[in-house]
Amino acid sequence: MRSQYCGALNASFIDQEVTLCGWVDRRRDHGGVIFIDLRDRDGIVQVVFDPDAKENFALADKVRGEYVLQVTGKVRARDAATVNANMATGEVEVYGTGLEILNEAETTPFPLSEHSSVGEDVRLKFRYLDLRRAEMQKSLQFRSKVTIAIRNYLDENGFLDIETPILTRATPEGARDYLVPSRTHENKFFALPQSPQLFKQLLMVSGFDRYYQIAKCFRDEDLRADRQPEFTQIDIETSFMDEEGIMSITEGMIKTLFNDMLSVDLGEFPRMDYATAIAKYGSDKPDMRIPLELVDIKDLMTEVEFKVFSGPAKDPKGRVTALKVPGGNEALTRKQIDDYTKFVGIYGAKGLAYIKVNDASDMENGLQSPIVKFLPNDVRKAILDRVEAVNGDLIFFGADKANVVTEALGALRCKLGEDLNLYTCEWAPLWVVDFPMFEENDDGSMQALHHPFTAPSCSPDALKDSPAEALSRAYDMVLNGTELGGGSVRIHDQSMQQAVFEILGISSDEQREKFGFLLDALKYGAPPHGGLAFGLDRLIMLMTGTSSIRDVIAFPKTQSAACVMTDAPGAVDATQLRELHIRLRQKEKQEKAAE
Ligand code: AMO
Ligand code: AMP
Repeated sequence: MRSQYCGALNASFIDQEVTLCGWVDRRRDHGGVIFIDLRDRDGIVQVVFDPDAKENFALADKVRGEYVLQVTGKVRARDAATVNANMATGEVEVYGTGLEILNEAETTPFPLSEHSSVGEDVRLKFRYLDLRRAEMQKSLQFRSKVTIAIRNYLDENGFLDIETPILTRATPEGARDYLVPSRTHENKFFALPQSPQLFKQLLMVSGFDRYYQIAKCFRDEDLRADRQPEFTQIDIETSFMDEEGIMSITEGMIKTLFNDMLSVDLGEFPRMDYATAIAKYGSDKPDMRIPLELVDIKDLMTEVEFKVFSGPAKDPKGRVTALKVPGGNEALTRKQIDDYTKFVGIYGAKGLAYIKVNDASDMENGLQSPIVKFLPNDVRKAILDRVEAVNGDLIFFGADKANVVTEALGALRCKLGEDLNLYTCEWAPLWVVDFPMFEENDDGSMQALHHPFTAPSCSPDALKDSPAEALSRAYDMVLNGTELGGGSVRIHDQSMQQAVFEILGISSDEQREKFGFLLDALKYGAPPHGGLAFGLDRLIMLMTGTSSIRDVIAFPKTQSAACVMTDAPGAVDATQLRELHIRLRQKEKQEKAAE
């Protein structure tokens, strides 16, 4: 039906006859001449109909926004005065000689050009219209190109694309499962995979050696801008490769993508251990574009009379830390400081003490702060020396349980970086390594920091003796403060796997019931193996410079994990429920009330 895409036309087509198909972006009537901006996935071109061609002109007159047209015409140069430098096709226009209205369109619920004036819910309800916008077309086209480049890279490196099941058993990655009731097995449920983790490990036991899959994963967890309940991983697993090999081949993939798609050289990725990331940046995914650092001052605060500081300073689980903002004295208003105090409150911080350094040489009168009156001069001096403060700096403080301070000041660091535009570079990739194996829950029980299949870097005995101290052979790739991917060398030994399950409080019966197939597989010659998974949506989000993964997913869910377009999740009828052996609680209540 078409000879060219609208967006493809330029001066090289002048005098050629073309046939175009697309949607009416805009129609204007200029003193007897009708201009139609015709749009397709490639872009927009101006088509002109003049009254001499009577039949076409009459049809063009009927055309309205979002009508679907087939247009034939001749490409011609625009007058110098009417060249549109803002339009890729702005040097030319099509002089229309044929027009067919392929379909009409009602007035759309929102004008596509004014999408930002409507709420995201409206855009998601009419997503098929929202996706007509050039921005969305571009990001999904970009996504398609990236997945092709990924496939090419992995194929060239000997990886096989193998699919794994969607209807499966729980694959623990720390979120809740989406469950699917079974009709044929009464009272039993499938779980949708949180990741293909166990299957990819089993593929290594089977000898496939290098596996990848662009895999859908499902996690019922609280949503944020970079989290969806249904998302896509670039999932990778290898045999006979240690962490160095895996990190090198996956770093190579990301570097190749940035080079080929964005002409960006990411350089060699630096490494940082987890303990440093938490201590200096208050995050296990530090944004290294921001030059601010947390500086611990716990040791300086044990004896001060200010309980807000001395309490956590004396508490082995407490943390007292400072965050210096160079020049912050002038850059930050009182109102901003109050806003930041509210901001850290989101993370549980009970306040945000600060010192403005007016004169770093005068401990008596040179500091402006609600808290210095509680601090003796030698402590004031020690703080300034520790953070290397100079006149004009502002120092924020956090004092509380370590996890509260870390989270609150880690988040404040990023917020300051963004608000004050402190970024020192455009791209800051790194590897975070040497994670602890476990983190302790409030009740003293242990939880895997990655997943329970991650290998520790110590022996099973050392692991059992002091699980809280054990480090794992896990690694995360971080880019601009976003965790792009994570993985590990896996446990390939049955006794080590059982030791980890025991530390996690999973009884041997439960181990058999949930992971018997894995423990069995580890008995029959499991090779040393390991891998990693990237979040494809997050990768595209970063590469396209948007701030939400919803912008790079064709049909994303809302913040409350629903699809407002199809109205999912939806109710099901009684017959279907009966087949699935399910009785709804609300129904039960109603029936009881009726009795
Ligand atoms: P992990 O749980 O770290 O590891 O997930 C890997 C990557 O997937 C992305 N991601 C998400 N993206 C969007 N929405 C979500 N809800 C979401 N959750 C995770 C992140 C993350 O870095 N099986 C292991 C990998 C392995 O060990 O090989 C796993 O799934 O970018
Ligand atoms: P208060 O004694 O509660 O009035 O607090 C005095 C100053 O200390 C205020 O600037 C508070 O914002 C700050 N502050 C209170 N609690 C904390 C805390 N846990 N960490 C850091 N600063 C705090």
